Amino acid sequence: MTETARGTDPLTETTIAELREIAARYPQARSGLLPMLHLVQSAQGRITPEGIEACAAVLDITPAEVSGVATFYTMYKRRLVGDYHVGVCTNTLCAVMGGDEIFASLKEHLGIGNDETTEDGTVSLEHVECNAACDYAPVVMVNWEFFDGQTPASARELVDELRAGRPVRPTRGADRVCTWREAERVLAGFPDDRADQGPGAGEASLAGLRIARERGWSAPSATTDEQHHSEPEPDSSSEAAVAADEQADTSRAESEAKVAEEKSDD
Ligand code: FES
Repeated sequence: MTETARGTDPLTETTIAELREIAARYPQARSGLLPMLHLVQSAQGRITPEGIEACAAVLDITPAEVSGVATFYTMYKRRLVGDYHVGVCTNTLCAVMGGDEIFASLKEHLGIGNDETTEDGTVSLEHVECNAACDYAPVVMVNWEFFDGQTPASARELVDELRAGRPVRPTRGADRVCTWREAERVLAGFPDDRADQGPGAGEASLAGLRIARERGWSAPSATTDEQHHSEPEPDSSSEAAVAADEQADTSRAESEAKVAEEKSDD
């Protein structure tokens, strides 16, 4: 199905009112432009000339200023996006762990290229930059929900499930993937109350925390750091804090040395 055949919904009075509501949240109304553009995408499936004009009118700035922002950030789309935006991370770590193969496999499987949408309007494919989930590489995102440790086969299965309209559960986060337009509404600042669903972090992210707890490691406090930088002549309390830091550093170094010794014994 072509973009024209799928169509773009015109902006409603309700959406215009919500654009004003977003702008009113900020001391400087134009600070609301980013979430306003997400709302336009939620309502129309992309950034349209009508959406640009509407944002400009609400913020009393020029359409050129809105367009300059909308064309700068990759999360704003000029082409109609499908129900599911599938982003394959092809940044360094994911790429070497198989992201490039996943992306190539999905391109062939779906019959579309980068930043294109399937004929049925269900799936848009895009290679995306690092999503700060490198410990689960290679990562695929569907409407910005994480699918960790993917393979070409699992990614093909994932898009088949999406195209068949079956509910799909991400590895972390919400209990199901919503549509791209629903996700855009959340990014516009209209929560769907699912932010606390599901696990927020997996074992790979928590491993460092677990090891630190087991070994009694802790980070220096922010207060101590400030004292280091703002007080050239430390008083007795900051001297005590510095001594505590040094003790922590010593303990950490001793623990690391012990681990290294244990490894060399193995
Ligand atoms: S490189 Fe893919 S999430 Fe960081």
